[in-house]
Amino acid sequence: MTKHGLITGAGTGIGAAIAERLAARGTNLILVARDADRLNDVAHRLRAAHGVDVLTVPLDLSRPDAPADLVERLTGIEVDVLVNNAGVAHVGTAAATGPGRIRAMVDLNAAAVAETTARFLPGMLARGDGAIVNIASTAAYSPAPWNAAYAASKAFVLSFTRAVAVETEGTGVRVVAVSPGAVETPMNPGHVRGKRQPEQVADTVMAALDGRAPAVVDGRLNAAQAFVFSRVLPTRTASRLIGRFFARMAASRN
Ligand SMILES: NC(=O)c1ccc[n+]([C@@H]2O[C@H](COP(=O)([O-])OP(=O)(O)OC[C@H]3O[C@@H](n4cnc5c(N)ncnc54)[C@H](OP(=O)(O)O)[C@@H]3O)[C@@H](O)[C@H]2O)c1
Repeated sequence: MTKHGLITGAGTGIGAAIAERLAARGTNLILVARDADRLNDVAHRLRAAHGVDVLTVPLDLSRPDAPADLVERLTGIEVDVLVNNAGVAHVGTAAATGPGRIRAMVDLNAAAVAETTARFLPGMLARGDGAIVNIASTAAYSPAPWNAAYAASKAFVLSFTRAVAVETEGTGVRVVAVSPGAVETPMNPGHVRGKRQPEQVADTVMAALDGRAPAVVDGRLNAAQAFVFSRVLPTRTASRLIGRFFARMAASRN
């Protein structure tokens, strides 16, 4: 039977690259993001290249009712692979980022990921088959001054996903967090040393789907960095070093 993959934030960047890889495996797709035109462009391209069915669902996932709305719109469709990828970031101090942006970031990056997982997981468990990939970030591995709410939202995604991965062991449902470092996408323009491409992250996601680890970091250098920052350095030292990096990024963007 043809599988259905649902990817949030699929109109650009990493989400569009994951959509391409899943389509190449013959997976029919459901693409979700706010911008309908960008989703339709991706859908058109994937139908033509891979002959898969692609449904687009324009939706603001930061709205509290969005995950329930999404499930309702997909009545009758079984989702076999769920990729919670949609996310936003804003570099700057928490004070400068401000309450509205912080709330929207947490609603999208953390709350929507947890609720969407909780809404699609029971169906997968009942069928004894399926996979959920939640896109975190290497920022999840240490507190990140000048990017505090983003890193905290991704730490939530990492912790939540690792826990659900244990809860679902032996059920036939695969749950994994994938953490990219810096990736060349509209979210992260400009030069950063060691920056990777969305297609490389998509390859890591495909390998993670086929693997067994509950959490995977994209790229060897990023994995080494996440290890050092979370397991070797004292938290205060790690966060000061990371803070310097994000403070420079904030200064260059403002
Ligand atoms: N780029 C990096 O350096 C990097 C590093 C680590 C982790 N990540 C993570 O990777 C994921 C993908 O990011 P990206 O780099 O590919 O950035 P991107 O190209 O900006 O993609 C973000 C996607 O999320 C969608 N989105 C944003 N707000 C939304 C909302 N309220 N509701 C529904 N969809 C929404 C966007 O589409 P619309 O604007 O049309 O809604 C877009 O398709 C994110 O979770 C990000 O945190 C990125």
